[in-house]
Amino acid sequence: MSPTPEMFRRAMGRFATGVTVITIPEDEGGVHGMTANAVTSVSLDPLLILVCIDHRAHTLALLHQRKQFGVNILTEEQEALSRYYARPDRDHQGALRLGVRYRYTQRGTPMLEDCLAWLDCRVVATHEAGDHTIFIGQVEEIFIGEGRPLLFYGGQYRRLDVEAQ
Ligand SMILES: Cc1cc2nc3c(=O)[nH]c(=O)nc-3n(C[C@H](O)[C@H](O)[C@H](O)COP(=O)(O)O)c2cc1C
Repeated sequence: MSPTPEMFRRAMGRFATGVTVITIPEDEGGVHGMTANAVTSVSLDPLLILVCIDHRAHTLALLHQRKQFGVNILTEEQEALSRYYARPDRDHQGALRLGVRYRYTQRGTPMLEDCLAWLDCRVVATHEAGDHTIFIGQVEEIFIGEGRPLLFYGGQYRRLDVEAQ
């Protein structure tokens, strides 16, 4: 039997991942964030990372335009942020209600406060692949924080009872 999208989804749901929010600066000091777990480290020399963006996502055009993005790796305490940044109907008021705070890198990329880690990236290549585009970013700045990771497994948020080292 040929594999179906549903089987693919179930199989890949067995690949446990962390959870990130991709952040991009918008005009007039705004910030666009989107929850993403299709994020992978690519290369150590140079430092490269990739994120796969759905062609239906608003993030796609903004990333092509700005060519910079933050990868914010979430702690288990930030599950509400992950849910919020995955909602299609989110607005800035919702972020305020959740108490979202940003800090800015030297290049002006907005980053979420209190993450497990974040990486500031400059887009160096894109590749269309089916209904997603792969954005490859060169890592320009890194922050390493503390806490326990938020995980995504089997279509659900999970926790790991281990502190980051
Ligand atoms: C755990 C989780 C992981 C996700 N990973 C991705 C991803 O890697 N790429 C993607 O395009 N969408 C991903 N999504 C879906 C987007 O977060 C969601 O469609 C969002 O509303 C898109 O926002 P935008 O239209 O503002 O870009 C994920 C959602 C969840 C809950």
